Amino acid sequence: MLIADHISKTYRNGVKALPVLTDVSLALKPGTIATIMGPSGSGKSTLLNILGTLDQPDSGSLHFQDNDLLTLPNRELARFRNQHLGFVFQFHHLLPEFTARENALIPATIARNPDGERIVDDLFHLMGLREREDHYPGELSGGERVRVALVRALINQPEIILADEPTGNLDQGNAAKVLDLFRSVQERYHPCVVITTHNPEVAAIGDQKHILDQGTLFPVDSI
Ligand SMILES: Nc1ncnc2c1ncn2[C@@H]1O[C@H](COP(=O)(O)OP(=O)(O)O)[C@@H](O)[C@H]1O
Ligand SMILES: [Mg+2]
Repeated sequence: MLIADHISKTYRNGVKALPVLTDVSLALKPGTIATIMGPSGSGKSTLLNILGTLDQPDSGSLHFQDNDLLTLPNRELARFRNQHLGFVFQFHHLLPEFTARENALIPATIARNPDGERIVDDLFHLMGLREREDHYPGELSGGERVRVALVRALINQPEIILADEPTGNLDQGNAAKVLDLFRSVQERYHPCVVITTHNPEVAAIGDQKHILDQGTLFPVDSI
């Protein structure tokens, strides 16, 4: 379980201070999908980056199992991210000079994960990407790129997947397909999935749903 407690974050540019997160607490349960809905600029990416140890809060704590993540040295944090976290970024960050399959395998190569090839076969099949595996990112549609990014996020079978507006740049049909795939992946590999979105239809798929408003995170029963 990933537990964030009393997280606050203010950006400071010179004398100006922009408070973005105020006392945010969140417990991510294994095998569930958590959604965080908020408009553009509400702090979704900031929160996801803090949960993913890519950014540090000003105060609060972040624990995964027995690890206090805010005190881990950088080297151990990098290993933690590689083994336990999978990221799906809004703009995918696929490397243009590598094929879809090569991109998806990068975290497995870093981890020397012997199951990488088998899992990539399984997931490309699940995602309907078998015909596209030798294509470069520039030759893929937006929906295909998200799916490759999702395979890359899953390749080391992490406990936590953090997805920042994964459907934000997709049309409705592709967005629905990607959400179905998140659900299939979750049933197959049982990670905890966190999805940020500004779209109520996407937010509604969460087992745990939250709204981020004025720096505060509210759990809600329905969207
Ligand atoms: N590195 C930064 N420095 C200063 N302000 C930032 C930085 N990153 C984001 N912000 C500001 O913080 C607010 C929240 O940003 P962000 O977390 O990206 O929101 P969202 O992902 O919900 O659109 C925005 O007003 C944004 O302009
Ligand atoms: Mg964002």
